Amino acid sequence: MYEATATAPVNIACIKYWGKRDTKLILPTNSSLSVTLDQDHLRSTTTSRADESFAAGDRLWLNGKEETIKEGGRLGVCIKGLRAWRKQVEENDSSLPKLSEWPLRIASYNNFPTAAGLASSASGLAALVASLARLYQLPQTPSQLSIIARQGSGSACRSLFGGFVAWREGSDAAGSDSLAEEVAPREHWPEMHALICVVSDAKKGTSSTSGMQRTVETSTLLQERLRIVPGRMDAISKAIQDKDFESFAKITMVDSNSFHSVCLDTSPPIFYLNDVSKSIIAVIEELNRSSGKIIAAYTFDAGPNAVIYALEENMPKVLGAINKFFPTAEESEDPFRTTAEDLPASFDYK
Ligand code: ADP
Ligand code: DP6
Ligand code: CO
Repeated sequence: MYEATATAPVNIACIKYWGKRDTKLILPTNSSLSVTLDQDHLRSTTTSRADESFAAGDRLWLNGKEETIKEGGRLGVCIKGLRAWRKQVEENDSSLPKLSEWPLRIASYNNFPTAAGLASSASGLAALVASLARLYQLPQTPSQLSIIARQGSGSACRSLFGGFVAWREGSDAAGSDSLAEEVAPREHWPEMHALICVVSDAKKGTSSTSGMQRTVETSTLLQERLRIVPGRMDAISKAIQDKDFESFAKITMVDSNSFHSVCLDTSPPIFYLNDVSKSIIAVIEELNRSSGKIIAAYTFDAGPNAVIYALEENMPKVLGAINKFFPTAEESEDPFRTTAEDLPASFDYK
């Protein structure tokens, strides 16, 4: 039996991917840019095994529960693509075992809530592709592997790189140039930190896949967003190169708000933010105002959970503000102490 394990961390987008121009190949309506979190936090771990003696058919378990691998479905497409590459390698070297012909058994675990808007499809599909690439000992680069991961879940292509990563939308109809690239490695800006605020770990009501499709079909505001995003991609890439936190933060927050506006402009509308999410926005806006400069940036994926980017030196202030308004049960005598009056007065989100 041959076996390989790989882990992949989640990535949280600063410029959001929301919309497909090709739903089968997963080609996006716009380029996007994200930060991949460190391996030791939110991650997927996937082990793949190939053996001649396995009963026919590939099988996969996610968090201990079997998922069906549909022919032509997302998992099926990723497995098929990697197997085809392995076959090429075997054809060039007849001494290699014929792993491409053997059934697979794959087990994956997420160490955080699945399908709750914390990018489990990104780390999950990236870990799947990375573990199969290792099992099959493929020579492909991370950008080439990202083309396969993209067809499992769009955001997954970015989790094959650490640090600051762009997914270029590309122009080829077959998707050969719709891939992830490193914008800057983690070490370029090690002071950048992310705080994850889990507002709810429940499975979201509208999956990213169906939500964005509905937006493409019904939102007129999306066209305005698509006009603006290319400029934001350039500006945030420059902010990262220059380590200009204020510009990075402004663009990150405005793009998160633009994405959630487009969700509201969808018919029927999609609400991913809840009242706690909106209060987090108010607290961070107030923290920035009272600090006299922007020291923190919030962003929300397709769910109510906040990710707050801040430089390490400012994280104590951010944590102080969050803990003040959102004390956890252990930290507060009365977990329901926070009232609307406690929230910053300058924001009327009620
Ligand atoms: P999220 O916000 O968590 O990314 P999505 O709706 O985009 O939510 O995707 C969730 C889906 O991604 C899951 O229902 C599952 O099909 C797939 N997924 C999540 N984690 C894994 C994993 N580790 N391995 C394979 N597939 C996964
Ligand atoms: C809001 O990658 O989960 O997190 O390609 O249909 O699997 P599919 O969608 P998915 O969408 C992620 C949307 C987002 C923004 C982002 O990560 O860029
Ligand atoms: Co997802």
